[in-house]
Amino acid sequence: MDVRRWLIDGVDAVEKWQAGFGPFERHPSLEISEEQFASAFGELTERLRENYPFFHPSYAGQMLKPAHPAAVAGYLAAMLINPNNHALDGGPATARMEKEAVAQLAGMFGLPTHLGHLTTSGTIANLEALYIARELHPGRGIAYSAEAHYTHSRMCGVLGIEGTPVATDAAGRLDLSALDALLAGGRIGTVVATAGTTGLGAIDPVHEVLAVARRHGVRVHVDAAYGGFFTLLAGADGPAGLDEAPWRAIAECDSVVVDPHKHGLQPYGCGAVLFRDPDVGRFYLHDSPYTYFTSDELHLGEISLECSRAGAAAAALWLTFRLLPPTPDGLGRVLAAGRRAALEWAVLIADSGLLELYQPPELDIVAYYPATRERTLSAIDAASARMLAAGMADPERPVYLSTLRITADDFARRHPGIGQDRDGARILRSVLMKPEAETYVGELHARVVRLAGGPGEGLGDGPGDGPGSAPD
Ligand SMILES: Cc1ncc(COP(=O)(O)O)c(C=O)c1O
Repeated sequence: MDVRRWLIDGVDAVEKWQAGFGPFERHPSLEISEEQFASAFGELTERLRENYPFFHPSYAGQMLKPAHPAAVAGYLAAMLINPNNHALDGGPATARMEKEAVAQLAGMFGLPTHLGHLTTSGTIANLEALYIARELHPGRGIAYSAEAHYTHSRMCGVLGIEGTPVATDAAGRLDLSALDALLAGGRIGTVVATAGTTGLGAIDPVHEVLAVARRHGVRVHVDAAYGGFFTLLAGADGPAGLDEAPWRAIAECDSVVVDPHKHGLQPYGCGAVLFRDPDVGRFYLHDSPYTYFTSDELHLGEISLECSRAGAAAAALWLTFRLLPPTPDGLGRVLAAGRRAALEWAVLIADSGLLELYQPPELDIVAYYPATRERTLSAIDAASARMLAAGMADPERPVYLSTLRITADDFARRHPGIGQDRDGARILRSVLMKPEAETYVGELHARVVRLAGGPGEGLGDGPGDGPGSAPD
């Protein structure tokens, strides 16, 4: 699709709709000349060049990629009206689109019933799930794996709940016997299972977590902010197919979070939280004397902690789902390509002699490190940092990676032969979330191998944290 054409079409359609309300005078205080705009806009577009090329497959760093052009066109058209999905009064059309898109997400997870809404982020979506957890089990804490996103411990602090990290196994998944022992103590009311950890893309065994939790009368929330759309590959044929059990179990859990602004092709400002039991809506009850006046129909603000939210985000998601629905044949094809790329790259890395795989990829995140001459954590840390910086600085064949901090214990569990001369090391991490990674993986590998074999490999300290070390 030609995004230019549809952006103009969006502007035309909205102006046509506006014209139907009759002429009025625009206020001079808002006026700016074309010349003024050209100068400021030129400055903006120039400053935007400072970005990394998130659109390009040579950007194989953090969970970042541009939104699909369909989402951009949908967002812009709605944003020109700027509806607020807090209430039907603020955005009747986009609030209905939000309910439809959220129902599609519920269908994707196989939830038999649901209450849910979009949020501005995975962080806020998880906050909502933990808030409901606290209301349902006052005085009891939240357990999450030591590899869970940092938001869980942080939000426990915000909510005044005790958060307890649980040990992980040698693949970075929540350890079931440690969980069982913790839940036996009776202090925990809800356990968070992560379906796709941020660092390594590990999938906690949701089905087994659920069985353990239910035995102890504990609720289960699934943080699938990053991994959720991979449920579309559960049981699929071919190399991209995933074991069905953890994904199918999500339908039995109490709540789930998924971020359309990660794998759902959306611009930032689009997370989602879904509860299996619509009755939890009672915990959101509040009085709003200034909104909710047009109908008795459910207003989204009545079931969310946030007030104002972009209706444009719902329009973008709704439009994207019309074209690339959250089904195996729709969005599933996009995710499958990234996953195949990760699997293929893992094989190339293992055979390279210059790089080593930290652990096999479970989704589309590849974690690896340079095979330094000196087999120590400090050598690996320095070489990883050097490769990160050198990759971005290469004028001819740049490559953009990210790093992941690994503790000495976690390293030893996977690679006992590495000398433990410090408490941990940075390794390299690439999220292959663009489907174009599949055809580019050979070139990507060549660039990274070149960095690993470059002069000074494994010697001295790296230049420290680059932008690739920013947390997702
Ligand atoms: C598993 C997981 N949970 C929560 C978050 C936080 O989401 P957001 O960045 O949308 O606030 C992330 C972000 O990477 C994540 O990977």
